[in-house]
Amino acid sequence: MSSLPLVEWTEDGAARSARWHSEGGAPAPKRVVVADDRITADAAYRLACEGTALLWRGDFNNARQLLQAMARRVDRKPRKAAASTTAPAEAFHFYRQAQSLRARTLGMLLLPFDGDYRLPLRRAPDVRQACVEAYGDGAAPFVASLRELLGLIGAHEWRKKGVEVPALGQRIHPHYGVFAPVRGEYVGLVAAAPLPSGCTLAFDIGTGTGVLAAVLARRGIARIVATDQDPRALACARENIERLGLAAQVDVVAADLFPPGRASLVVCNPPWVPARAGSPLERAVYDPDCRMLMGFIKGLAAHLEPGGEGWLVLSDIAEHLGLRSRAELLAAFDEAGLDVAGRIDAKPGHPRTADTTDPLHAARAAELTSLWCLTVRNG
Ligand SMILES: C[S@@+](CC[C@H](N)C(=O)[O-])C[C@H]1O[C@@H](n2cnc3c(N)ncnc32)[C@H](O)[C@@H]1O
Repeated sequence: MSSLPLVEWTEDGAARSARWHSEGGAPAPKRVVVADDRITADAAYRLACEGTALLWRGDFNNARQLLQAMARRVDRKPRKAAASTTAPAEAFHFYRQAQSLRARTLGMLLLPFDGDYRLPLRRAPDVRQACVEAYGDGAAPFVASLRELLGLIGAHEWRKKGVEVPALGQRIHPHYGVFAPVRGEYVGLVAAAPLPSGCTLAFDIGTGTGVLAAVLARRGIARIVATDQDPRALACARENIERLGLAAQVDVVAADLFPPGRASLVVCNPPWVPARAGSPLERAVYDPDCRMLMGFIKGLAAHLEPGGEGWLVLSDIAEHLGLRSRAELLAAFDEAGLDVAGRIDAKPGHPRTADTTDPLHAARAAELTSLWCLTVRNG
């Protein structure tokens, strides 16, 4: 945290400053005022909308309530475009804009952190463990948003409790910032697809929590090499694989896409939506140039054993949003010398598919997640 920018304010007539921290990559607020329990939600909301951040000195629980009241005000604002009258790509663009404005406004309520992640506020919880898990060991005093802290606390709870993965019959424990397998349908596809015969080595490209590597190991593949580039994902996958007792079968290694060599099965679940990530934490979902998807498709043939299979796990939400066409995907397979040997589909069952007030409802309701089974042409 040594190279963090500063946030500056005036308190009791004196100029003060502290280091600024934002995992979401938000810039340090330029205007900061000190606030406590006396401020009304309307006043706080107005200041936040104007770009003035509030450094909280009051009661911690009151700060949480204030944030909820500010969120209600943000969500009451009329949406810029009605989904029914707007092209899907435009509706998606408005949706992302609204999300980013919401994050910016709610990110204006700031908390002071003393050294070692202590909060010098009344009724403040002990957040040290949640902070260490996300930020690393120890720290000098700094300022971060309450919204970010609530994200850290939520991630800490998830990490403790884990996410039940029906395909494994066990729980996976996601770390902060690592793509969590909350949507079970894609894991189910990897658990159900017929394995290539005689498969003893598989690669899991971009393993995240390690969930797909674990499913392949449980299916009896003798050795799996799971890769990722993100240090948090690598640590998380290693911990899950160890906890599940699969360390003898699964190696988790740092690599850009493929590890060296060839395997008879190569699995990849890349980010599904070609759009700019609003923050580093969204990079597992949004990939503006489809770098991972296209990198997997282009590199697959060189990493498959003769007769091997590549399993690409991909939702078609980008197609329903008008952000990528099916023809583009098929052309990319073709250019890479790949044939589609089969495809199995699953309908996502997450609650948002049924939310008719969601501006992206039409796309979410039509979405299918697929496992594309790819083979090398004449391979
Ligand atoms: C959508 S998540 C999928 C995670 C996991 N496989 C799953 O299905 O739950 C994509 C993962 O790919 C990783 N990733 C992105 N680019 C990568 C690259 N070039 N090489 C290796 N991993 C990458 C991300 O860090 C992230 O963990």
